[in-house]
Amino acid sequence: MPGGVKADVRTYQMYVNGEWVDSKSNKTFPVYDPATEEVIAQVPDANADDVNRAVAAAKAAFEDGPWGSATAQERGRVLFRLSEKIRQNTATLAELESRNTGKPIVEAEFDIADVATCFEYYGGLATKILGFVNPVPDNAVSLTLKEPIGVAGQIIPWNYPLLMAAWKLAPALAAGCTCILKPAEQTPITVLEMANWLADVGLPPGVVNIITGFGETCGAPLVQHPDVNKIAFTGSAAVGKIIVKQAADTVKRVTLELGGKSPNIFFADADFEAAIDGALFGVFINQGEVCSAGSRILVQKPIYKQFVDAMTEKAKKVKLGAPLDRDTKMGPLVSKDQYDRVRSYQEVGKKEAKLAFGGGRAEQFAKGYYVQPTIFYDVTNSARIAREEIFGPVATVIPFEDEKEAVKIANDSPYGLAAAVWTRDIFKAFRAVKAIRAGIVWVNHMQPTYVEAPWGGYKQSGFGRELGPWGIEEYLETKQVYINLNEAPIAWY
Ligand code: NAI
Ligand code: MG
Repeated sequence: MPGGVKADVRTYQMYVNGEWVDSKSNKTFPVYDPATEEVIAQVPDANADDVNRAVAAAKAAFEDGPWGSATAQERGRVLFRLSEKIRQNTATLAELESRNTGKPIVEAEFDIADVATCFEYYGGLATKILGFVNPVPDNAVSLTLKEPIGVAGQIIPWNYPLLMAAWKLAPALAAGCTCILKPAEQTPITVLEMANWLADVGLPPGVVNIITGFGETCGAPLVQHPDVNKIAFTGSAAVGKIIVKQAADTVKRVTLELGGKSPNIFFADADFEAAIDGALFGVFINQGEVCSAGSRILVQKPIYKQFVDAMTEKAKKVKLGAPLDRDTKMGPLVSKDQYDRVRSYQEVGKKEAKLAFGGGRAEQFAKGYYVQPTIFYDVTNSARIAREEIFGPVATVIPFEDEKEAVKIANDSPYGLAAAVWTRDIFKAFRAVKAIRAGIVWVNHMQPTYVEAPWGGYKQSGFGRELGPWGIEEYLETKQVYINLNEAPIAWY
């Protein structure tokens, strides 16, 4: 039994200042298995008092603790050891992640592998944070130093729980920051499990604090806290807008990843079989609970009818099932709330467009938040189902005439996270790549994501970039240093 878990009831504590603690109020809240609708754990219900305790620990660890003077090599080695621990425990973590989110076990295993890779990548990057010599026109040396931003507050969603934690913690720790991470209230378990190893791998107390709670009572006080220097957030656009306003009073640095309504564009000359798979995979992976889901499927008119028919035929074969079943391609949605939201969009869609497939609850399951993979076609881009992020397995297929119209529709969205273009014509592909206003554009694929390459959006999909060297930059301050080499007094009087 790992630390922080009390006997058989799976009541977790949270991890603050290197200790397992209850919430100050002693309140807890339940965590569910979305396939059975049963409670699988209780976790502390943290509020502002707990936030204060965690921030004080993170601040002390940054200012007075050994982490502040740890070398980049030492920070890197901590991350390598953590990466190794995660690799050794992939099976356990993947199973917990799958049970708690409803995602297929096979996908959860890929997630945990990516978690390990993320810590490993930033372990390597810790020793490659470079300064600069500024060529000032004087007898002086002007330097640019990179320094950790300080205490980072990190608020993450429920669709890739441990992976989102890694995307936030790994660059922050490589940079030398200390962290308070708040997992989503639906899915706090895997990051609490990971906290069992933090001391063993060499993290001093207070460097990483994990607090479990709800958005308004735990997330908001973290955002408003004057001793938190930076907030990194992934979640809904609605909450992202609140966070920017709340962070203004203390002029916090903020980075936001707010999802999207990403276009997946199919030209008539695309490889047809690959295209159909790409359309389905792009929007149904992880039950469609993906910020970069290719939820607007733009198809050129000559292949449009055939495309909708082929998508529909293949969608019938998507295997829904228990998350832990290795054949399952789609599990239940994460929560009752998310199920209700997606179900309501299915109904909206029936009024706005034509239904090719799905459109309701997956009735073969007596329990669980299962919905059918759903395909709407003849959708206009002004429809709600084409404009609003659904975050579930709901595809909207939109016809287009030519390249110009495809780009126009693609860009006609408040969001700009990702896009994909399918064609055999390299000239056409690259014209589209340049014309599309999005932070990520894939050609003849959709969704591959690598820790080496930047992730983040244009427009209302947010600002700042995660992953790669861009990700570490968001946790660094820039200090200008001027060293005078003239020994004579300043000629002012
Ligand atoms: P949400 O944005 O409310 O939750 C994300 C995180 O923010 C959670 O940790 C939550 O506790 C926290 N949070 C909520 N309100 C907060 C506040 N006032 N201050 C500080 N933190 C706060 O997302 P929710 O309600 O779970 O899902 C609603 C919709 O959001 C989804 O249907 C989807 O469209 C979108 N979403 C987008 C994600 C993305 O990856 N971009 C991830 C999750 C949801
Ligand atoms: Mg919410």
